[in-house]
Amino acid sequence: MSEPVIVAVDSGVMTLTLNRPDKKNALTNAMYATLGEALARAETDAAIRVILIQAEGDAFTSGNDLGDFAAVASGALRREDMKSGLFLSGLARAPKPIVAAVQGLAVGIGVTMLLHCDFTYVADDAKLSTPFVNLGLVPEAASSMLLPGRVGYALAFRMFALGEPIDGKTAAAMGMVTASLAASEVRAAALATAKKLAAKPAGALKAMKSLLRDPALIQATMNREGEIFGARLKSPETAEALRAFAEKRAPDFSQFS
Ligand code: COA
Repeated sequence: MSEPVIVAVDSGVMTLTLNRPDKKNALTNAMYATLGEALARAETDAAIRVILIQAEGDAFTSGNDLGDFAAVASGALRREDMKSGLFLSGLARAPKPIVAAVQGLAVGIGVTMLLHCDFTYVADDAKLSTPFVNLGLVPEAASSMLLPGRVGYALAFRMFALGEPIDGKTAAAMGMVTASLAASEVRAAALATAKKLAAKPAGALKAMKSLLRDPALIQATMNREGEIFGARLKSPETAEALRAFAEKRAPDFSQFS
């Protein structure tokens, strides 16, 4: 069976390829562990100067595997055994530039991880959504701070509250991502930028990045969100949303106040 995350290092670029296309690259616990370990390695491995995140198939990622959310909600998986925190902390700390190539759907953490990327190329027709509230949840990955920081409060509130997708062109116009391009050009553009960055003085790039973002503040925000997120995962609203997804029907939240 092929690996659900492929890690490859070439010419200073560590490429992380999400490779679970039949499930729209939904991120499982095991995938988070691989991604987290790769980011940790990139911090200290001098052969890695840039990280590139991309995905196989017609979706970037449909976000957290909802089966894993359901397992936490039911108690079958302990929240402390979830590996998403490993990945998120790696993103928060990442001292080296991260470039992303996004086609198709990006949902939930598929969008919030982009807020940790320094260059993000999205397809014009990509569909980016953050449906945390629709699932009875709250934003994570420090997105409650980083998204308003990139696009302003009004647009961030709309994305979080309604959970409706925006396309790549709109995301670029909002300043949420670097640029939108024809889907066929996204990967090549991301790789070209990653190579360009790999040729820059790594020390200066790292110092520049450290001036632009505060890992301690990002981690503190993630921790605060995580506490609320963990409690919400066990809420009746989330139970209804996850049941509805499994039963392929629309959720009914009218019974909760
Ligand atoms: N977790 C687990 N499985 C997922 C998934 C997820 N986040 N997203 C998609 N899948 C699975 C589907 O269950 C389906 O599996 P099946 O073929 O065994 O039935 C397969 O991937 C294909 O998805 P499907 O729903 O048939 O594709 P679609 O194009 O009709 O819809 C989505 C794609 C992403 C819009 C839809 O799958 C969806 O809403 N997923 C949940 C997204 C989500 O809420 N993520 C969490 C955000 S915090």
